[in-house]
Amino acid sequence: MKVDRIPTHVAIIMDGNGRWAKMRGLSRNVGHRVGAESVRDVIRVSLELGIKYLTLFAFSTENWNRPEEEVRGLMHLLKGLLQNEVEFIYREGISIRVIGRLGRLPGDVLKVVKKAMELTEDNSKLYLYLAISYGGRAEIVDAVNRIISEGRREIDEESFRKYLYAPEAPDPDLLIRTAGEKRISNFLLWQLAYTELYFTDTLWPDFRRDEFIEAIEDYSRRIRRFGRVVEE
Ligand code: IPE
Ligand code: IPE
Ligand code: MG
Repeated sequence: MKVDRIPTHVAIIMDGNGRWAKMRGLSRNVGHRVGAESVRDVIRVSLELGIKYLTLFAFSTENWNRPEEEVRGLMHLLKGLLQNEVEFIYREGISIRVIGRLGRLPGDVLKVVKKAMELTEDNSKLYLYLAISYGGRAEIVDAVNRIISEGRREIDEESFRKYLYAPEAPDPDLLIRTAGEKRISNFLLWQLAYTELYFTDTLWPDFRRDEFIEAIEDYSRRIRRFGRVVEE
């Protein structure tokens, strides 16, 4: 497989599980379960292509407002996936890092999350960030509160970055959102300032290997200017 320019960091808003299930007369939670297959595909392709950072939006701060049964189903799914896949993840050299307001997670889920992070922390082939109970505004506010608690009176962009949940990760080069919605939905607000955006109508459970490669190929053809003049 050859793609000209591989993004260092890809972020994905995995959307459309509910619609996928509804179209088939299934419950939303079945859609989430099938969506987990697409997660496996994008992780495998990321390893093959040599993408170093992959950030997946799994659960937003706003998603806590969904029906209790769906929230419970999602938490159960997350826990199960982390438990079942952590061996594979470890063997493949993947490091799992979870970003978000983790204090809101149920105790058993938090335990599994911490274990997965500890087990894989020295891996470096692919940094897999899972955004769980994550909100871009929450991240910025959490950063500001830490800055205040340290008694700082002034800040610049580079030092502000150090207070974000994952200061070691470079900004995403490419953001993919599935299921046709063209919005950011409170994802990585600070980090997406110069990210290339890719939207597809494909629902997340149908977003498999070939579509992911297609998105990367689309990215590799883009010209990034960062506000400058670039000779083409
Ligand atoms: C994305 O699919 C998964 C999560 C937000 C957890 P949705 O559940 O938002 O699916 P739609 O948008 O209702 O189809
Ligand atoms: C964004 O999807 C959050 C995740 C994919 C985890 P939503 O489905 O929650 O976003 P909105 O509600 O359509 O903006
Ligand atoms: Mg949605």
